[in-house]
Amino acid sequence: MPRKKQENKKKNLKRQKKKRFQTVRGMRDILPNEQPYWQKLRKVIEKIAVDYNYNRIDLPLIEDVDLFKRGTGEETDIVSKEIYEFKTKGGEKVCLRPEGTPSVVRAYLQHGMRIAPKPVKLSYSGPMYRYDRPQEGRYREFFQFGFEALGEQDAVLDAQMIQMAMRIFKALKIHNVTLHLNSIGCDECRPSYNKLLISYLNNRKSSLCMDCKRRLKTNPLRVLDCKEEKCTQVVSQAPQTVDHLCSDCKTHFTSLLEYLDEIQIPYLLRPQLVRGLDYYTKTVFEFFMEDDLGNQSALGGGGRYDYLVRKLGGPDTPAVGFACGMDRLVNAMKSQKTDTYQPPTPKVYLAQLGDVAKKKSLRIFEELERTGIMVAESFGRGNLRSQLSQANKIKAEIVLIIGQREALDGTAILKDMNSGGQETIPLDKIIKEVKKRLHKNAEMIKKIIKQKAAQKKKRKTKNTRKKIQLKAKKNIHKKTKKSIKKKVSRKK
Ligand code: HAM
Repeated sequence: MPRKKQENKKKNLKRQKKKRFQTVRGMRDILPNEQPYWQKLRKVIEKIAVDYNYNRIDLPLIEDVDLFKRGTGEETDIVSKEIYEFKTKGGEKVCLRPEGTPSVVRAYLQHGMRIAPKPVKLSYSGPMYRYDRPQEGRYREFFQFGFEALGEQDAVLDAQMIQMAMRIFKALKIHNVTLHLNSIGCDECRPSYNKLLISYLNNRKSSLCMDCKRRLKTNPLRVLDCKEEKCTQVVSQAPQTVDHLCSDCKTHFTSLLEYLDEIQIPYLLRPQLVRGLDYYTKTVFEFFMEDDLGNQSALGGGGRYDYLVRKLGGPDTPAVGFACGMDRLVNAMKSQKTDTYQPPTPKVYLAQLGDVAKKKSLRIFEELERTGIMVAESFGRGNLRSQLSQANKIKAEIVLIIGQREALDGTAILKDMNSGGQETIPLDKIIKEVKKRLHKNAEMIKKIIKQKAAQKKKRKTKNTRKKIQLKAKKNIHKKTKKSIKKKVSRKK
């Protein structure tokens, strides 16, 4: 090997060794300080799934790429531009899933769920992958949760999907969410609408962006959804899908609007809303949130996909669903200062001194946890003072101290952090004693809360009484002023 080449190789090797690894572009770590938001979000989603009877399904991250080409649509941005596609060592063409809906339908067919009572209700959550340009709220690996109901065509389900999403936003205290709604028809009414749209767009073809010129041939409906300024101007005057629905789609859409009125969910009819995925029929909807700067961000979206099961090889099966971006919801929670999930904190702290005590503590820790008592410890620390300060930090109610003497005697010192008192208890009685004390403390706290609430109520009634008296006084003043004025004017 020539000397220069050898030197370069050496340099490269040196550089490689020095390389500090970072997350790949578009990927990010979700650090422990962010987890309370995610935990809260997961809890809220789980509760809604239970309330509305949705069963969880976990789907693989890697799927056959044709599932999305056929399901989501080869012409969609998600598939044509953003898919993470690769060949396995065995030569299979696979991809990282860009969304969940086609996978749910694949699982529905693969596992014979079509014979289950309808609708089959499934929920999922997890990472999705789209090779898009990363920016705030748009990642290459992002998380979605979704709900899908298969086998029911009544618009009541579409309304219920929207209701579920709205309940989730409300529970997360995410306000100013607007529901955008449209109906894009079915196989019966869409061809004639498409003809109208194509003829309208063909007359204005020169004003469209390059992508839309192509879409005009492959999927004209998608032109309506284009974000390019020049296209939105053309589209604003285009024929609207809702004006060209067949009677079935019209009835379906009207019933959906009636259901939404009934459950008092406001909506914005958006004739240009078609959504970026090919499988939708009839209902399409999207949830937008406006930030302080007036920027709109889509928190989630969904709609009906009555032909997708058939397209993926199954029988005719109407279906509806929606998915939300969890990263965006967490960002919204942060900006709106939502309460996060607060995990229960341990009320008992186990401190130890010396090797024998450490061994005993390990056993006591397990026994306490097994009976449902949460315990904190720092077995790595040998210093009692630092352990006690740790106990103070976590606001432990009880500290159990096992020193060398206690370890040999088979006892522990129980220190009540509220009263400051302490006593030595045999280890075989420790669990009973800790339970008794914790119960006593809990009762005391309950009593204090009750007393405080009663005092607050008393103060409130006293204040309202004062306010009423003050108002009455003012009224009297007004009345006397009025009567004096009257008298004076009469005298004049
Ligand atoms: P989608 O509109 O493509 O729909 O995605 C749903 C949500 O995922 C978006 O509204 C957004 O909040 C979030 N999202 C999408 N891309 C990104 C990204 N790059 N970074 C962060 N968040 C993102 C679907 O995926 C359909 N499967 C929804 C559905 C379910 N339709 C029927 N059933």
